Order: sequence, then C-alpha cells, then structure tokens
Amino acid sequence: MSEELEQLFQEKIDQDIKIEPKDWMPERYRKTLIRQMSQHAHSEIVGMLPEGNWITRAPSLRRKVALLAKVQDEAGHGLYLYSAVETLGADREDTIDDLHTGKAKYSSIFNYPTISWADIGAIGWLVDGAAIVNQVALQRTSYGPYARAMIRICKEESFHQRQGYEITMTLAKGSPEQKEMAQEALNRWWWPSLMMFGPPDDESPNTAQSIRWRVKRHTNDQLRQEFIDMTVPQAEYLGLTIPDPDLKWNEEKGMYDFGEIDWEEFWHVVKGNGPCNKDRIKARKAAKDNGEWVREAANAHAEKKRQQENKVA
Ligand code: 3HC
Repeated sequence: MSEELEQLFQEKIDQDIKIEPKDWMPERYRKTLIRQMSQHAHSEIVGMLPEGNWITRAPSLRRKVALLAKVQDEAGHGLYLYSAVETLGADREDTIDDLHTGKAKYSSIFNYPTISWADIGAIGWLVDGAAIVNQVALQRTSYGPYARAMIRICKEESFHQRQGYEITMTLAKGSPEQKEMAQEALNRWWWPSLMMFGPPDDESPNTAQSIRWRVKRHTNDQLRQEFIDMTVPQAEYLGLTIPDPDLKWNEEKGMYDFGEIDWEEFWHVVKGNGPCNKDRIKARKAAKDNGEWVREAANAHAEKKRQQENKVA
C-alpha cells in the first residue's frame, strides 16, 4: 500500500502537480518541509534584529521610513511562513520554542553585527539579493502553500534589495570616507552571504532528496553561482572591489571562478558560536516573554466571545 502511495506521490511531483495540505505525502517529505520552512520563518524573524538596530540611527527620515517598511515586511514574511508550516500539522508554539531551545536553525547570516549604516545597505543588496535568488527558485517548490507564500514574499524582497543597493550606491558615489564605509561593509558581508546558500552540494545531507521531491529546484552550489554572477557586475558598477583575489571571469564556463569559502567559519556560526548568536536568541526569548500578556489577553477575549456565542446558540 505505502509503496503504491509513494509511487503515485512521486509521479505527481514529476508532473509538477503541487502537493496540497490534505494530499497524502510521505512522512519524510512532511518532516523535511517542516524543517526547511520553519527555519526559513525563523530566519525572517531573527533577520529583523540586525537591521532593527539601525532604525533609530538612520541618517535621514527617508532612510528610516524605508528601513522600517523593510523590517515590518520581514515580520510579515515570518508570520506567513509560520502559517504555511502549520498546514503541515506543526504547532506554532512548538515551532517557535524549537528556535529558542536551539533545536531549530536560522540563517547563519543574521549572526553578524551591523556596525555601520553601510551594513544596512550591504544587507539589502547582498543578503536580500541572495535570498531573492533562493526564493525565486522556491516559487516552484512542490509544496503548494510554500510556493504561493514565496510569490508574495519575492515581490517585497525586490524592494528590499533595491533599497539596499541604493544606500550602497549613495555611499560609493559619495565622499571618499563614505565610499570606504561601503567597501568595508562589502568586505564584511560578501563571504557570509555566499554561505547563506548552504554547504557545498557534496556535503549537503538534504539536497539530493530535496531535488528529487522538487522541494529544491536548484542545488546550493547552482544558486550560489547564480548569485555571484549577478552581483559581481553590480559591485564593479559601484567601483567597489569584491574581497576575493581568486574571483575571475571564466569565459569557457560563462561564469565566475571564485575562491575557497571558509566552511569552518560557516559551521562555527551554524553551531551557535558566531559573533551574535547568543544575543539573537536572547532577544527572541525576551520578545516572547514580554509578549505573553498580549497572547493571554487575546486568548481570554476569544474565550469570552466563544462563551457568549455558545449562550446565544
Ligand atoms: N544557516 C544556517 N544553517 C544552514 C545554512 C545557513 N546559511 N545553510 C544550511 N544550513 C543547515 C541546514 O538547515 C541543514 O541543517 P538541518 O538538516 O538541521 O536543517 C544543514 O545546514 C545542511 O544543509 P543542507 O544544504 O543539506 O540543507 P537544506 O537542503 O535545507 O538547504 C537552505 C539549506 C539552502 C538554506 C535551504 O534550507 C533553503 O533554501 N531554505 C529556504 C530559504 C532560507 O531559509 N533562507 C534563509 C534566509 S531567509 C532571508 O534571508 C530573509 C530575507 O528577507 C533577508
């Protein structure tokens, strides 16, 4: 029975028929979706912290308004994705607790500090730029609710990337000191942005199966290469130097060759030892504790309404 069901399931995947919440699916498929989608949601929520740090320090009202809008968007992306995870039967509270206990991951990139305003430009340009490359592919993921969430999220990510690139362009075309700030931010964020796409394909325990199930439409290395090939010309236009002496256009392959990524640093950060990991989790736990009264009030109100409706019925 289950072999037949698995075969029918794979035929749907191979015909690009979306899998919907009420469809039969292998338990391992459901589990890997909960793993990836919940960690994606956690990344959106934790990702608000490094940028939120600059809302009160933005250099102008115009910059503050754009940054506020972006950070609010990220909160919405997180809630969107937590709702999509719930369609797989995962409990919201448990999902969020998994982040706080360290059971679940979130993107390594958000464990780096934002030490100048230029970092806010670099995050929009590079981090959201990398997220767009990854998320555009996820618009065609096999799980219906995840694919549909990505369509809306990608539209907002494009604004995030443009506002970041415009900040960086303003600095790069500004005074020598401003250009230096932009170059230092590029130096800080380039390699961690490449790490966002995950370990090399031959070291990724999930990629092969995720490709077979069309959870992923491209591999980590393919998306990383696409991001590099798209971003290098953008840096050149700004007159900024990518901090990779081995970066070189390969005419034969039609793509950039690039230097070795420090996977030791990557795993060091993923395992919780990055510059800001502890601060990020502490901030998320505090947000949950400080918001307890809101949840209690909302639940009490909902319960009272239910009792009144039952009385009337
Ligand atoms: N940070 C932290 N952990 C990472 C990671 C990263 N950058 N890249 C990979 N990992 C983890 C994986 O989660 C996996 O651990 P797990 O099995 O315990 O979950 C392990 O390292 C091995 O990696 P794999 O490549 O085998 O794992 P995946 O097949 O899940 O691929 C991924 C990793 C490419 C990140 C994939 O999960 C994915 O595409 N996720 C959806 C997109 C996403 O989460 N993006 C994060 C950033 S969101 C963002 O930037 C918001 C924007 O608004 C700024």
